[in-house]
Amino acid sequence: MISQESIQEIQRRIDIIDIIGTFVKLKKRGANYLGNCPFHNEKTPSFTVSPSKEIYKCFGCGKSGNTIGFLMDHEKYSYVETLRWLAERYNIDLKETETSPEFKALQHTADSLFAINHFARDFFTNTLFNSDEGTDIALSYLRERGFREETIKKFQLGFNPSSKNEFANTAISHQFNKELLLKTGIVVNRDDKLTDNYRGRIIFPIHNLSGKILGFGARVIKSNDRAPKYINTPENEIYVKSKLLYGSYFARTAIDKANECLLVEGYTDVISLHQAGIENVVASGGTSLTTDQIRLIKKYTHNLTIVYDGDNAGIKAALRGLDLAVEEGLNVNLVLIPDKEDPDSFVNKIGAAAFTDFIKKQKKDFILFQLEIALKESEDDSTKKSAVVNQIAETISKINKTEDFTRRQDYIKKVSEILKVEESGFNALVNKLIREKINKQDARFFPPNNVSQAIPEPNQTENENTGAYHELIQKDELHEQAVVRNLIEFGLKEWDENLKVADYLLSQIDESDLSELLDNKTLVDIINIYRDWYRKGKEPTEKNFLYHENNEIKNLIIKIMDVQTEISPRWKDHYEGYIATREDLYKEEIISTLTYLQLRKVKRLIADNQAELEKASNPEEQLICIETHQHLKLLEIELTKRAGTVIYK
Ligand code: CTP
Ligand code: MN
Repeated sequence: MISQESIQEIQRRIDIIDIIGTFVKLKKRGANYLGNCPFHNEKTPSFTVSPSKEIYKCFGCGKSGNTIGFLMDHEKYSYVETLRWLAERYNIDLKETETSPEFKALQHTADSLFAINHFARDFFTNTLFNSDEGTDIALSYLRERGFREETIKKFQLGFNPSSKNEFANTAISHQFNKELLLKTGIVVNRDDKLTDNYRGRIIFPIHNLSGKILGFGARVIKSNDRAPKYINTPENEIYVKSKLLYGSYFARTAIDKANECLLVEGYTDVISLHQAGIENVVASGGTSLTTDQIRLIKKYTHNLTIVYDGDNAGIKAALRGLDLAVEEGLNVNLVLIPDKEDPDSFVNKIGAAAFTDFIKKQKKDFILFQLEIALKESEDDSTKKSAVVNQIAETISKINKTEDFTRRQDYIKKVSEILKVEESGFNALVNKLIREKINKQDARFFPPNNVSQAIPEPNQTENENTGAYHELIQKDELHEQAVVRNLIEFGLKEWDENLKVADYLLSQIDESDLSELLDNKTLVDIINIYRDWYRKGKEPTEKNFLYHENNEIKNLIIKIMDVQTEISPRWKDHYEGYIATREDLYKEEIISTLTYLQLRKVKRLIADNQAELEKASNPEEQLICIETHQHLKLLEIELTKRAGTVIYK
């Protein structure tokens, strides 16, 4: 592990303009730098880098992060790789901390397994190209299937001779450890002798993202009912099936560029599509996608298109994984290959151009596809149909992240058209499911507003309909974020002649009160950390949080920090004279933010009190509740008047 000291040294030396400027052409604009965003296509620059805040933000696609995050995102480096890259750039000697003996042992085993796999790969490719059996049987088979030599070489395909233990003997003569050899699965123990496990098979090496070999798939050449078609590497320290996708090493840049990942079932599908020039493709090996695999894809794109043969059992497994992908925020599409073909045979049959065209034309939205199938199955059965409505509402309710709001509304519109149901009603159903989910997560969050009408409503009535519900949540979240932004951005400014903003704000959001005022636990954590530092005499700024070891905290800070504090020069020209900025109006902004949150708290108390009232068993209790209600309502009106100076959209 890299020592904390070295990490801090790197952080101190980071010059965000220098680093990002290596990859993006930046121009100075006021205090910030502006360029064309490297993460999406744009003609007018909206990619902003703030040297003072040490973060970047794109106002076009919404990406943001610190320097380390930029390198991880842009170069797809891991965290440790990024640190090493930066250390090299700034000539920093990395100090490694003492690692635990268990970790060292693990590392050591992993290194040895990689070494064996690399040795094996070379042995297998050599056998494929340079032995009689290899060329006569294996290479000719691959050629017959249409794989060109450059493709075979690129994917490092190989061949394991059919004799009993040629590989095992060679490996032992090279002094590889017997236990470790067994762990790779390339050899097995037969009558106390190491025997080749992949005898007579074509070998498909499986690479990790940096091209190292995790394991192999080994395919029989002549179909044989007794032997399995493929033998795969057993799970070991480096081969963890649920975390890898075949082809990801070869596909990663293409996925990035196309902003789409095609998912197929098998090794040969990946290879054939590559050969046809379709390189943004990976394979799952026919099992349902796991969260780890989805995250792997999400590193590169949010658009997943699954290309499967329709009447295959594999499709069922694949479909199961797709719900998870939707939940993880992926935009999932589906293409079914017809007539007992698979992508490999189909692309060979119709050619690259027709295949690409086919994908484009046949691509179906996964959620709508599911709906079609379900509708076909339910026909005119109205009970079944209402089950379909509920099921699809459930699926759509999983798209509940704030940033996916538009996408969800889009589905609601389309689905209500297909189902021929009232859009507003369907919308309400989806919102109800989301509400239930949120309520479950946090019983305190907006108690449902189905309260008795017995209470006189002073003045205004307010009825949160479900459509406005989402907006409310979103607004809530933005106001919660605003408190933290105010604290960090303006905390050290003066509030009045005695107090700083931090003193005032922290007194208004007392520790005991905090979790009632804010729902987002990470924001609460940030405020508590700030409070703690501030009490100890430190003067916290956003930089203290920017490299915080807790990723959730770090990412949230980056997300909520405002880099556009300055008014653009064009505005200044347009409105001659003085324009007030957030900077000038910070006190108003703070008061408004606090008021909104207090208002929300009062609303919740009102709802709680109303629930109380419903349960009240005697007139006295009822009276107390009604009095409380009236008192709270007055407070609400008062706060409503005060709020509203700043509205976050
Ligand atoms: N698979 C496996 N073990 C098996 C069969 C299949 O691991 N016994 C996995 C492999 O990853 C394989 C994928 O499932 O690539 C798809 O299987 P299949 O369609 O049967 O094979 P193809 O990849 O199409 O191979 P080929 O085109 O050579 O028949
Ligand atoms: Mn096939």
